[in-house]
Amino acid sequence: MEILIAPSVLNADLSRLSEEVARISAADLVHLDVMDNHFVPNLTFGLPVVKALLRHSRTPADVHLMIEDPDTWAPQFAEAGAATVTFHAEAATAPIRLARTLREAGARAGIALNPTTDVEPYLEFLPEFDQVLVMTVEPGFGGQPFLAGALPKVRRIRAASTAAGLDTWIQVDGGISRDTIAQAAEAGANVFVAGSAVYRAQDPDAEVRALRGLAEKAFVR
Ligand code: DX5
Ligand code: ZN
Repeated sequence: MEILIAPSVLNADLSRLSEEVARISAADLVHLDVMDNHFVPNLTFGLPVVKALLRHSRTPADVHLMIEDPDTWAPQFAEAGAATVTFHAEAATAPIRLARTLREAGARAGIALNPTTDVEPYLEFLPEFDQVLVMTVEPGFGGQPFLAGALPKVRRIRAASTAAGLDTWIQVDGGISRDTIAQAAEAGANVFVAGSAVYRAQDPDAEVRALRGLAEKAFVR
């Protein structure tokens, strides 16, 4: 299972987005947090900004949609060239149909679960998704403390994915740092979003490599 580090630009200097992405050339993906001030109490950027960044960045885009109406919006991010498009289970009205539309548009399809959202109803549908994002903070803001209570869910998904012969990417998002990444990897996560840990570091690229090293060591193969 590949270990991937996806820095979130939420806490980067958003006035210099493409330069900020260029500072993390060691990253596997760049995580883009789209918020609409309805699904979460915060507002970031939308399709035009993501499209503009895609023209200037070679790092594949991992779009995380914290929006109320992903059924309408998510396919447009896939068509724009995002590598992965993840929408929230709590917001989608037809998650399976939406995942299929994303795949048809050439993106990896991801479903995100808030810390208190039960994963059980989705386990039968794992083949429909390339990635499950387990929120390890309540969505909306960077810099919040890691919620270890979400890790049993990561274990459950990894067990179900392995039992079904799948290699589902399990992404953890929120509070990931040198202090928390190993427990998430040990639980079975293989894609790690880190916002403040990477962009508050002196050398963001070195931080990406350090995080990857810790995750590689802790992931049980
Ligand atoms: C929060 C976002 C995260 C956020 C993570 O709702 O989905 O991607 O940027 O930031 P840190 O790593 O600082 O918790
Ligand atoms: Zn995110």
